[in-house]
Amino acid sequence: MRILVTGGTGYIGSHTCVEAINAGHEAVVFDNLSNSSEESLNRVRAVTGTRPVFVKGDIRDRAAVSALLDKFSFDAVIHFAGLKAVGESVSKPWEYYENNICGTLVLMDELRKHGVFNFVFSSSATVYGNPEKLPLTEDAPLSALNPYGQTKLWQEDMMRAMACADPRWHIVLLRYFNPVGAHPSGLMGEDPNGIPNNLMPYITQVAIGRLRELSVFGNDYPTRDGTCIRDYIHVCDLAAGHIAVLSKINDMPGCDAVNLGSGHGYSVLEIVHAFEKAIGRPLPYRIASRRAGDAAECYADASKAERVFGWKTKRGIDEICRDAWKWQSMNPNGYGQSAS
Ligand code: NAD
Ligand code: UFG
Repeated sequence: MRILVTGGTGYIGSHTCVEAINAGHEAVVFDNLSNSSEESLNRVRAVTGTRPVFVKGDIRDRAAVSALLDKFSFDAVIHFAGLKAVGESVSKPWEYYENNICGTLVLMDELRKHGVFNFVFSSSATVYGNPEKLPLTEDAPLSALNPYGQTKLWQEDMMRAMACADPRWHIVLLRYFNPVGAHPSGLMGEDPNGIPNNLMPYITQVAIGRLRELSVFGNDYPTRDGTCIRDYIHVCDLAAGHIAVLSKINDMPGCDAVNLGSGHGYSVLEIVHAFEKAIGRPLPYRIASRRAGDAAECYADASKAERVFGWKTKRGIDEICRDAWKWQSMNPNGYGQSAS
């Protein structure tokens, strides 16, 4: 298949390009580089031998999207492009609505005009809001806790309505749990701008000495050790999930949501200790107060993905920590500058 990968220079998109190329697909990346570097595609080439075609552009730019779709005929689209920082979305809601909602509307409008209807969307477990019942199944109630989550929820709603109105759409909404880790080569990984908001990149930057210590946000939750529980999924497993979807998408008319998670929850302290095991030394951390908006516990019922696509995670927490650390130690400054 020839696949359009929007946001393909980003963290999950670049790892998905690797899996796509390894599965014999052709990837064309469209990204405005607002949160990524084209260097990630050189790394895709280093890992696979093939550099995806890259077109720099913005999904809100109708002329650019239309020109792209005139130039290439695509069998499917994987739509990663979007802004994704929860905290930033609270301070810059307009930017999130405009980028994520307007961009997706332009993209999908041009896709239907060009006859491309196989569409895989990067949704998030954030659409479940504060979970009422665990593990989370795809039919759990949906709600938004912040503008970022609202954009995911609205995009899902838009996609359901569009598929309902036009039977040519085949849309799969992939609800990711917590993507972490890096390619085992150490050549590709997560390269956040500024101080990371998320646990794993924060931990790796403490371990490399860029940050002083980890703050564990709250140890008074009703969980086994008092810290929050999440479902961490290795980014290569997540990427492979997209390829499994592509193999079935022609048989999936309509719009269907599927969780991509491991089905296992780990607490923040369990992650810290697994990481300490991976690096062979203690990680400086302190217990801090709770972070506003965090749910105590969130993990997937991952059985639908296995049933529908024959996909499940293969890598556990030790590989996640090992690969995250390999990436960070080989690239202390991310894609900006590699270690010699
Ligand atoms: P990322 O920021 O690394 O990748 C997103 C890419 O989209 C970036 O390369 C950015 O430059 C590009 N982009 C943003 N706006 C664009 C626009 N208007 N036009 C063209 N390109 C644009 O993020 P990621 O972690 O790889 O996430 C990919 C997708 O998965 C996002 O939609 C995100 O919301 C979703 N998601 C991520 C997580 C996570 O924890 N990483 C969890 C759930 C869902
Ligand atoms: N945490 C800390 N210290 C830190 C960072 C995080 O203790 O410095 C804790 C958080 O309180 C939380 C856990 O580590 O309990 C995980 O936090 P992350 O920020 O890594 O991830 P979240 O579960 O909050 O959210 C992530 C993405 C969202 C996405 C959600 C579900 O950031 O975009 O997973 O996919 F919606």
